[in-house]
Amino acid sequence: MEKYPGKKNTAVFISGRGSNLKSLIKHSKKKNSLIKIRLVISNNPDAEGLKYASRSKIKIYGNINKSNFENNSLKLLEKYNIDLICLAGFMKILSGNFIKKFSKPILNIHPSLLPKYKGLNTHERAINNKDRFAGASIHKVTEKLDSGKVILQKKVKILKTDNIRSLEKKVLKIEHEIYPKAIDKFLTNL
Ligand code: GRF
Repeated sequence: MEKYPGKKNTAVFISGRGSNLKSLIKHSKKKNSLIKIRLVISNNPDAEGLKYASRSKIKIYGNINKSNFENNSLKLLEKYNIDLICLAGFMKILSGNFIKKFSKPILNIHPSLLPKYKGLNTHERAINNKDRFAGASIHKVTEKLDSGKVILQKKVKILKTDNIRSLEKKVLKIEHEIYPKAIDKFLTNL
């Protein structure tokens, strides 16, 4: 009998530490979560997050040929019958061709209050601009970088005493909180 009836087969793409992956794995194990994480793909074989996934008995692929990363990933996504991709600290930009060929939803977490600060160094830019708030956003992935529809975001106050590191820490905490919520919200409204 199917162990996870109704849960969406999910692949998580990472490149490094994998703290968001960890929060997604924890969430996926809850009875009422809407996802089952079937595989974790990394473009970096040394990504710390791969170890945690493997300890959680999730299939990991960290050694995909760089020059053929997208095509090989597409094969795995098909093999595992993946319905949803969650990018979590995945530092490679997926091509329009990949997004079209996969044809199912791809979500991403971005450490800013989109549409502000697409791309890199979001915390540094928020501090330099003397913003009062920073935050994190979960959005749909489209061909245009960090520009798809925002599903959920949450703010944190930037204090005068904050620096890049302290802000990153605060934002990361809310990332872990809102990514699982955003996924369930997204899947409920499909
Ligand atoms: C997170 O801040 C994420 O928003 C950004 O990269 C960081 C990845 O952290 N895209 P982790 O690998 O999930 O710990």
